[in-house]
Amino acid sequence: MDLKDVKFGDEMKDEFLLDKSCAFVNHGSYGPTPKRVVEQKVKFIYEQEAQPDLWFRFNLEKYYDASLTAAAEFLGVNKSNLVLVDNVTTGINTVVKCLKFEPGDQILIHTHTYNAVKNIADEQEDFIKGVKVVTAEIPLPIKSEDDLVDVFRKALDENPKIKLAVLDHITSPSAIIFPVEKLTKLCRERGVLTLIDGAHAPGQIKLNVAEVGADFYSANFHKWCYVPRSCGFIWFSDDFHGQLRPLVTSHGYKHSLDDQFNNLGTRDISSYFCIPHALKFYKEIGGLEAIQAHGRELTKFAAKILCEALGTEELDIPDSMRAPCMTTIRLPLKKPAKLEEIWDLTKDFYTKYGMQACFNYCNETTFLRLSFNVYNSKADYVAIKESVVKFVNEDLKHLKL
Ligand SMILES: Cc1ncc(COP(=O)(O)O)c(C=O)c1O
Repeated sequence: MDLKDVKFGDEMKDEFLLDKSCAFVNHGSYGPTPKRVVEQKVKFIYEQEAQPDLWFRFNLEKYYDASLTAAAEFLGVNKSNLVLVDNVTTGINTVVKCLKFEPGDQILIHTHTYNAVKNIADEQEDFIKGVKVVTAEIPLPIKSEDDLVDVFRKALDENPKIKLAVLDHITSPSAIIFPVEKLTKLCRERGVLTLIDGAHAPGQIKLNVAEVGADFYSANFHKWCYVPRSCGFIWFSDDFHGQLRPLVTSHGYKHSLDDQFNNLGTRDISSYFCIPHALKFYKEIGGLEAIQAHGRELTKFAAKILCEALGTEELDIPDSMRAPCMTTIRLPLKKPAKLEEIWDLTKDFYTKYGMQACFNYCNETTFLRLSFNVYNSKADYVAIKESVVKFVNEDLKHLKL
């Protein structure tokens, strides 16, 4: 069937492999892949298995180059400033470890930084004597983009030894779009390098990576661009040509940047090669505008029914900072004793109700993070609402406010 004739919602669900017995409203965590793109990946695996030598010795470079070309065009960047990596965790590790922090250097993160990324900064502090992590406190509610910029301005002014600011494009626990252009400008004026964690941006919001004004930008293609896991990228500004090296050294050492990054020893990077095929799917279903419009309509619906049922509200932030296909709703629960308790909620909710939603914690508040994608329909959020209300009122009644 021609993709442009497939209606978003239940009809589009048939284009994915999702288990229909389970309401799935957590696209943001891992990003399901459309069947057509999975089939392409399977074709690549068959090709690899049919002639392993041909695949690794001759075709790998050719396919990597085709994927890099498609990725660069989609992101609005030069392909000579772009490398493909497995995921944003690898991307951020790569950049941080290439920067070689020294005693006295500081790294700026914030209270909504993704935990794995916080750990990357903490590791530098733990293993390089004299390196310090500075954490900017993100206040809630946020009244304006400029209020958030002021938070970072204060952190930079108070800590003149910050060498690198690791900033999100869209935060994980709270789905807030940061005004990244304003933040990179602020850092540049102070001689501070910027690394943007754009995990949720490509495919969900309009993005021209070069125009963000960062020194480095790393993100995933496997979340919102329909590329199979694992697939992400690092973009770097012209100032860093010749300075980026992969975490793993292999045959590509001292060769071109592409050779260094496409060959990290024998491994399967067929997901990378699905980039052109996944972007074709993305375009054929209507692209950014259609995806955002569906996301916004469902967000409005889901937030209304969930907030009414729980007696709570969506995160109070300006509309310009609201992600189109993700939202966070406060849960009427007490502060957990340990952060792990919140992470367990996602598992407990799945075990008890067979539904996949994401529970998060920040600013001393527990939130339900909902995602919206083209295969979701209103019925998914009605089902989630009924189960979340039961979960809060019955299973978590000891934690209720
Ligand atoms: C903001 C943010 N950064 C980084 C990551 C890590 O992504 P990955 O596990 O694909 O490296 C995530 C994953 O959800 C995220 O939300």
